Amino acid sequence: SRGSEFVVVANRLPVDRIVGEDGVPRWRRSPGGLVSAIAPVMRRRNGTWIGWTGAPDEHLEPFEEDGMSLVPISQSAEDVELYYEGFSNATLWPLYHDVVAPPVYDRAMWDAYVRVNRRFAEAAAEVASEGGIVWVQDYQLQLVPAMLRDLRPDLRIGFFLHIPFPPVELFWQLPWRRRILEGLLGADLVGFQLPGAAANFVRLCKRLLDTRNIKQDVLWDGRVVRARAFPISVDVSELDDLVARPEVRERAQEIRSDLGDCTLLLGVDRLDYTKGIRQRLEAFGELFEDGHLKPGEAVFVQIATPSRERVEQYQLLREEIEQEVGRLNGDYGEIGFPVVHYMHSSYDRAELAALYLAADVMVVTPLRDGMNLVAKEYVACRADLRGALVLSEFTGAADELKRGAFLVNPYDIDGLKERLLEALGAEPAELARRMRSMRRRVLEHDVDRWAHAFLSELERPERERPDDV
Ligand code: UDP
Ligand code: G6P
Repeated sequence: SRGSEFVVVANRLPVDRIVGEDGVPRWRRSPGGLVSAIAPVMRRRNGTWIGWTGAPDEHLEPFEEDGMSLVPISQSAEDVELYYEGFSNATLWPLYHDVVAPPVYDRAMWDAYVRVNRRFAEAAAEVASEGGIVWVQDYQLQLVPAMLRDLRPDLRIGFFLHIPFPPVELFWQLPWRRRILEGLLGADLVGFQLPGAAANFVRLCKRLLDTRNIKQDVLWDGRVVRARAFPISVDVSELDDLVARPEVRERAQEIRSDLGDCTLLLGVDRLDYTKGIRQRLEAFGELFEDGHLKPGEAVFVQIATPSRERVEQYQLLREEIEQEVGRLNGDYGEIGFPVVHYMHSSYDRAELAALYLAADVMVVTPLRDGMNLVAKEYVACRADLRGALVLSEFTGAADELKRGAFLVNPYDIDGLKERLLEALGAEPAELARRMRSMRRRVLEHDVDRWAHAFLSELERPERERPDDV
């Protein structure tokens, strides 16, 4: 059924299957920033979303959920292991995040990546209407643009990378570097979070494929491929509605009183080694060790959403973090006054909004992060102009929020401690000034504006082909 004028292709569908306490399976929103950003866009634009449900060997017909048309792609247990856990999350994820963990290079994983990308491309070719728009998302599907162009040259194909794009010197490690780059160049428009990432991409095209480039336009295969930056953002209207709800405000009050009305520091992350969770806990712990804080005075709530649990590096991280939490509470906590509350589970939007409202200091310390939507969500929720954001320099969000946030280098534990103390001790007037400046940015550049910027660039007709270069 070729019918959809607007198709999103992403490894994940916006919902994944959980089995409730009553044993009945139901849908729940999938984790991560990609889904948070694309779901509201899809709801408002009536497109079709092609993706995977998150479970192996699940064969489902297309269905409607939460106002979106979803087309499930099944993956065998072997595909999940080699393509998803393997090439996507043990090779590309660490490589693109500055090799903060060593990437695995494995030929069977690569073969699975090619195979599964082809399946996604075929599904998109089936679903898209004549001359329609297909928007391919993220690092799991970098071969889809070229595969899809072969099948359906009539389509407009956009690609957006939600994670960083590494410098040429790191990308060069990849044994399949040429194939990946050629895959991306199948798109008409390749979008990145930051201008630096787009520049890395254009430089790589030149070095690896000897393309002719005009500024951010790459001439390839008789076409112009545009590389541009579109910093992604949050659904401000959804968050506005959430924080206006009386039950969310009551829940925020309840969280605070449950914690004994002490200063609340908050971290919300997938349990991922790129997030700098260990560094932030270490710095926080030392504030007790040094006597800057006393148990009962401040508490850290760390939400660590389970993620990619069968990948070895994630298992190692979990052990490390859980040991560190235990050590901190053992060393510095007192009866009735633990210093860290660690939650290894997934929370819904309303509970997160309540946590954001309750938190005095939001602590976001990734070692590398394409954007980090949690930072922007915190800002969007704090219409009261209270609360401080401690933010890593190595996030995309720091580009936009650097004037209002307390910026840190998470590798510098002493620096991190100083910034935490500054944030904890700042006067309300200074916090309000900082929050106002961050809110100006986030409220204006929300996710609708992001999608509009990307899609109108994609639909813009190609400039006259520059024959004279
Ligand atoms: N999130 C959620 N429930 C949780 C933890 C996180 O809904 O228990 C959401 C969070 O609100 C944010 C997204 O997951 O929208 C995380 O996006 P971010 O860009 O911060 O990081 P990513 O997970 O994409 O690396
Ligand atoms: C990041 C990635 C997304 C991914 C999400 C959750 O946001 O950019 O592509 O969907 O993490 O990870 P998962 O492996 O559970 O899909």
